[in-house]
Amino acid sequence: MTRVGIVGATGYTGAELVRILMGHPEIELTILTSRNYAGEKFENVYPAMAGVVDLVCEAFDLDDLCARSDMVFTALPHKLPMEIVPALIKRGKKVIDLSADFRFQQAATYEAHYQPHKAKDLLAKAVYGLCEINFDRIQKAVLVGNPGCYPTSVLLPLIPLVKNDLLDLDTLIADSKSGVSGAGRSPSLTTLF
Ligand SMILES: NC(=O)c1ccc[n+]([C@@H]2O[C@H](COP(=O)([O-])OP(=O)(O)OC[C@H]3O[C@@H](n4cnc5c(N)ncnc54)[C@H](OP(=O)(O)O)[C@@H]3O)[C@@H](O)[C@H]2O)c1
Repeated sequence: MTRVGIVGATGYTGAELVRILMGHPEIELTILTSRNYAGEKFENVYPAMAGVVDLVCEAFDLDDLCARSDMVFTALPHKLPMEIVPALIKRGKKVIDLSADFRFQQAATYEAHYQPHKAKDLLAKAVYGLCEINFDRIQKAVLVGNPGCYPTSVLLPLIPLVKNDLLDLDTLIADSKSGVSGAGRSPSLTTLF
């Protein structure tokens, strides 16, 4: 069994990960971290998970996380993962990051859209986690930068068409829409109905 920890488990992606991983036969979910819900049972945060997961949310503690996991998912807002992922990799953990922090090979691309990158040396190691395209590399990767929801919806249908030279690239337009879940669980005025 691979022992897995999720950092930021109470967010939308973290909770979905909990649901998926609890059904995985080779994974033991050992640690779920949260700032606001440390000490709370996960099922109190997500009542639908009652009877599915019997874990209590915990405050993030690097040593504890490393001692109790072989692999870590970081399901945090971007900017935070690059603060902790280097330490996790240094301690031999495999990491799958759901934010944008490790999606781009070039730091300049990230920095053009987000902020200065604090773990540039890891970008060359990171594998873009589009499993339909990078399956073999993902299997061997120590660090996976999962693609965002928009790029996934755009890339999956387009890559086979582009590879087979069936499209005029100058004519491509991706007009993407998301529901409010795409902005995460924290309430904000811009995502209220
Ligand atoms: N939502 C989507 O559809 C979607 C799709 C693809 C990728 N992503 C990416 O996945 C990542 C997580 O997104 P999400 O939608 O799951 O976010 P979310 O619902 O806002 O959850 C964020 C999680 O991170 C924790 N957190 C927030 N700020 C923190 C801080 N300053 N220090 C420590 N922990 C903090 C929260 O902890 P508390 O429990 O303490 O509140 C919560 O558990 C983001 O990078 C996002 O871009 C999201």
